[in-house]
Amino acid sequence: MKIITINNQEEGGKLAFTLLKEKLAAGAKTLGLATGSTPLAFYKEIVNSQLDLSKLTSINLDEYVGLSAENPQSYAYFMQQHLFAAKPFKDSFLPNGLAADLQAEAQRYEELIEGHPIDFQILGIGRNGHIGFNEPGTAFDSTTHVVDLSPSTIEANSRFFDKLEDVPTRAISMGIASVMKSKTIVLMAYGEQKADAIERMVNGSVTEDLPASILQKHPDVVIIVDEAAASKL
Ligand code: GLP
Repeated sequence: MKIITINNQEEGGKLAFTLLKEKLAAGAKTLGLATGSTPLAFYKEIVNSQLDLSKLTSINLDEYVGLSAENPQSYAYFMQQHLFAAKPFKDSFLPNGLAADLQAEAQRYEELIEGHPIDFQILGIGRNGHIGFNEPGTAFDSTTHVVDLSPSTIEANSRFFDKLEDVPTRAISMGIASVMKSKTIVLMAYGEQKADAIERMVNGSVTEDLPASILQKHPDVVIIVDEAAASKL
């Protein structure tokens, strides 16, 4: 793991963008993308750049169950709003949270990842150490699956919804094994609320109790943190 401390989210976004450009120059074709507030500065860098994404493929980590792409709380909507509208990819994939058969949808999505190996995966981290929507306890060998969100994740994500009851309780998420197949992983974390998870991810044992700890085993991971998120290291 390479850990880089920067001053703020804006600098983190610029650094992640520089890393992306390096990998694109080296032939990267498929980007793994994340939602949440963490990657916003990174997406802004891309949107304000001259970069042409129209020959690349994007694959998102996860999507809520039950929300359509037109729902402003869906991750499909988020991606459209913050990146795809300004910078369209050749193909952009997200799990379909409205699929009638969610298990079949998870399997279809995993096959899609196999068909488009991810060269550059962006990650945030939940306060409980989750990556994607892989909550504590998720098996390290998990592939794309349907997830019951933990109360702490529902509570953390409720800030984007009018009320707690509106937050979906399930999602479809790439699994830990799916994420680990990515060639390069860049995880960003900002703010003191992430400090415990970052400390355990970096210094703790590799355990399914803290999903992000598996990244210690990945050969090419860059962790971008601000001082607050790095404060317990
Ligand atoms: C959600 C997403 C994760 C994200 C996490 C942290 O649970 N599924 O991919 O990393 O939130 O969100 P934020 O970046 O807003 O702190």
